[in-house]
Amino acid sequence: MVEIPEPATFINLARYPIHDPGDDATRALIERCRGELESQAFTVLDDFLTHEAVARFWDESMALSDLTVRREKTRSAYLDTPDEEDTSWPQGHPRRQFFHTSWGVVADDLIPDSHGLRMLYAWEGLTAFFSEVLQVRPLYRHADRFQALNINVLTPGDEQAWHFDDMDFVVLLYLTTPEAGGELECASLVRNDDDPCYDKVARAFDGTYAQLHRRPSVAGTLTIMRGNHSVHRVYPVEGETPRLTAVLAYDRVPDKYEGDAINIQMYGERVREKIEAGFNKPE
Ligand SMILES: [Fe+2]
Repeated sequence: MVEIPEPATFINLARYPIHDPGDDATRALIERCRGELESQAFTVLDDFLTHEAVARFWDESMALSDLTVRREKTRSAYLDTPDEEDTSWPQGHPRRQFFHTSWGVVADDLIPDSHGLRMLYAWEGLTAFFSEVLQVRPLYRHADRFQALNINVLTPGDEQAWHFDDMDFVVLLYLTTPEAGGELECASLVRNDDDPCYDKVARAFDGTYAQLHRRPSVAGTLTIMRGNHSVHRVYPVEGETPRLTAVLAYDRVPDKYEGDAINIQMYGERVREKIEAGFNKPE
C-alpha cells in the first residue's frame, strides 16, 4: 500500500489515485489527460475533490472574501486596451473587438498555510502529477508570493471575456457551482505558432467555429488548460452563488517572479509596502 499524505485526502482518490504514480489507473489517467490536451487544449476531471474538501475550501475561502481585490477591464482577446487599437485592421476584425471583463482575486500571500487549498498546492504529489500530464519536467510551483496560488472570485454579473492566455498552461480548481452561468467556453486550437488564423477566431466569436466547447463550472472539478492557442471566455455568473476558482500557477523554472509593478497593479496598493519591506524577493 502506498502511504496517503494528508493533502491527498482532499482528492477523490478512488477515482483519481494520483498519490500512486505507479497505479495503472493513474497511468491511464495521465494518458487520457495528455490526449485531451492535445486534441482540445483542455482536460476536465469531474469530482476531483471530495465533497468534504469542497465544503472545507468553501468555508476557508469565504472567510477571505473581504480581502478580494476587484478588477475590471476592457480589452481585446489579445489583451490590448481600446487606446491601443490598431486601425490598420478592418472594422470588425478580431484585433479590433473589445470586451468587458470583471472579476475579483485573492492573492497568494493572503491565503494562510492552514487553508486546505494551500496544503493541496504545496503537496509535491500534485505538482508531480501535473508535470507528467503536461510533460514539463521538472515543473515548479510559481515562486512569486502574490501570484502562485490565487482565488478568482466572479460575483453575479461578472464575466471573463474572450481572450488568449499569455502563459502556455493553467490549472483551475472550481470551488463552487453557480446557480446559472459561469461556464467556460473554449474554441480549441483556434490558432497556432505560425498562423493567427483570424478567420477562425472570428468564427469563435460568432459561435460558428466547429470546435467550440462549453463546460459548466461545478464545484470540485479540476481543469487543466492550454489557453495560448485556444481563445476562451467565462459566461456571466447568474444567481446568488459566486464562482470561486483556485488558480494554481506553475512554471518551468524555479525562480520566476513577476515584476513589482505588475503585482501592485494586479493586487492593489497594499502589496507595495510588503514589497518595499523585502517580501517576495528571491532568497
Ligand atoms: Fe484565460
